[in-house]
Amino acid sequence: MSALPPLVDKFGRQVTYLRVSVTDRCDLRCTYCMAEDMEFLPRKEVLSLEEIDRIASAFIRRGVRKLRLTGGEPLVRRGIVGLAERLSRHLDSGALEELTLTSNGNQLAKHAAGLANAGVRRINVSLDTLDADRFRSITRWGDIERVKEGIAAAQAAGISVKINAVALRHVNEDELESMMLWAHGAGHDLTFIETMPMGDTGEDRANHYLPLSVVRGRLAERYELTPLVYSTGGPARYFQVEETGGRLGFITPLTHNFCEGCNRVRLTATGQLYMCLGQEDRADLRAVVRASEDEGMLDAALDEAISRKPKGHDFVIERGASSISTPRHMSFTGG
Ligand code: GTP
Ligand code: 5AD
Ligand code: SF4
Repeated sequence: MSALPPLVDKFGRQVTYLRVSVTDRCDLRCTYCMAEDMEFLPRKEVLSLEEIDRIASAFIRRGVRKLRLTGGEPLVRRGIVGLAERLSRHLDSGALEELTLTSNGNQLAKHAAGLANAGVRRINVSLDTLDADRFRSITRWGDIERVKEGIAAAQAAGISVKINAVALRHVNEDELESMMLWAHGAGHDLTFIETMPMGDTGEDRANHYLPLSVVRGRLAERYELTPLVYSTGGPARYFQVEETGGRLGFITPLTHNFCEGCNRVRLTATGQLYMCLGQEDRADLRAVVRASEDEGMLDAALDEAISRKPKGHDFVIERGASSISTPRHMSFTGG
């Protein structure tokens, strides 16, 4: 197999997980994620599918075992299923353990079978409420029925679905328990996420920041939460909810920093490699792949980038203070 050395940063963390944002565009406008009038990237700035494949394959040669396609919304990128099909050769060879996506589910019904066919076995769907009116208000125009159809289509195609919900004070705070019962009843893992101070959305995030330590405390009064060693390789810490038999994850960038175990880097749609979600430093891999066909140069660029991976993010959310830690929106870096 690969004679190339793994990608290890100066803190001894090996990079085994690559998140690739295939587009910064999205067909929804979740209020905690985007402003209503977003300006998107001109198409010529965006990597071609061939360039994405080339960069992802370089990472896989260097020991990346898990690849997640994100956005924006990955399913709005034309040719996305074809890209997944091409990348699935790395599943067939055994080099890659998992090829997966994070999607808003809006167009999942259309693509579920194609994705399953390309070897996608698990998908994360973002859904912050079960109430149709609330869903429309959070996403600014989404139709929850479409997402539910997407989830059902994925399950029918044999793809297991994890639900991601950003926990928001005064928005879905009163619904988190019922979401858990719904998700577990339908056989989904559920992960709650703390809102992160990324990009201007036209609103102060402090108004809706809900620490997950609070959510967990409230749930623990009514349910038995048993810590699990289970890990997906992502940042969530999981608990078994004894009463439902389901798994509940908490992603807590604000209340419990998990950077010491960080195993991932993210590639933007324009080919910028961010070594941390919460920092500005990046490496321009588009320039490297457009300058030369030489894979050795790309390898050297990966080594150089990983040597700069920072220790962690500096997210803070405080009322009154600027609640934007990075000017980039989550949709640019892919979460
Ligand atoms: P699994 O494979 O299911 O564990 O997925 P995941 O949690 O890694 O990915 P997903 O796309 O579902 O992301 C869920 C949330 O976790 C998103 O809001 C991401 O922004 C956040 N997230 C993922 N990795 C990191 C990280 O390194 N740092 C921070 N702060 N957030 C992260
Ligand atoms: N903070 C936390 N999560 C966010 N997401 C988008 N923007 C933010 C933010 N500012 C979530 C989406 C999706 C995942 C990729 O990131 O809801 O589940
Ligand atoms: Fe689109 Fe996802 Fe951002 Fe919502 S959170 S606007 S679905 S990218």
